[in-house]
Amino acid sequence: MLARTPRTFVARSAWPALSRAHSSHAAPPSFAPTGTTSADTEVPYGDPTLASSAYLPRQAGDPPHTAEQIRAVSELPDLTPRQRKIIDEIIRVDQAGELGANYIYYGQQAVMSNLRRDKRVAELVQAMWDGEKKHIAAFDKLITQYEVRPTALYPLWKAMAFGLGAGTALMGKRAAMACTEAVETVIGEHYNEQLELLKKDMPDHPAIPLLEKILVEFRDDELEHLDTAVANESQQAPAYSLLSAVIAGGCRWAIAATSKV
Ligand SMILES: [Fe+2]
Ligand SMILES: [Fe+2]
Repeated sequence: MLARTPRTFVARSAWPALSRAHSSHAAPPSFAPTGTTSADTEVPYGDPTLASSAYLPRQAGDPPHTAEQIRAVSELPDLTPRQRKIIDEIIRVDQAGELGANYIYYGQQAVMSNLRRDKRVAELVQAMWDGEKKHIAAFDKLITQYEVRPTALYPLWKAMAFGLGAGTALMGKRAAMACTEAVETVIGEHYNEQLELLKKDMPDHPAIPLLEKILVEFRDDELEHLDTAVANESQQAPAYSLLSAVIAGGCRWAIAATSKV
């Protein structure tokens, strides 16, 4: 099981090492005309300035992938059993986590688009969901390249994540944002723990530095979502402390379960 780190729910100041410019695209993503992710979403085109684009379709006019990028995304590096275990766990847990994130936003949007109470917040949620589509699309490719067994808990995570998203959205926009804050805090911590693991004795192959860059990119995206939630009054949600603690505890339990099952 991955080590846990102390956690507070104070915005930004809880993340001294992470309070820096985020990598998310400023413009909304556009989507490839065909294909779906394991979270049942469209597949976004990659932004050629970001590491994740190595695993995503490119639009006409974008620079082609380099030979090193093609090698990095198409070969399985030679891994020792210990390295194999680390990579397996990282990719299986992250793919499941991104699946859950997509379904949380799906649940929130299902409620918000029907209630039509606050168009601005619904647009914010949609923008964060669109960002998650990039994450799951890249991990779908990584899980194939590295021949990692996906979690057997897909159906459970989908149902629980949709219920969490819809349930918090029904409680109101602040509760929905508190859900985002708690989830993105745990995921951000988790990406950091994985980056530490990847620094240790990994093989000299272009796939590994690419994986590291993608984890950094996605972590920064998650922290941008965290900032968005705090800026939109997540910490003024009803029963904020209890709600946050329950959601964060649930996320940590899901990470631990997914790393094994
Ligand atoms: Fe994500
Ligand atoms: Fe996120």
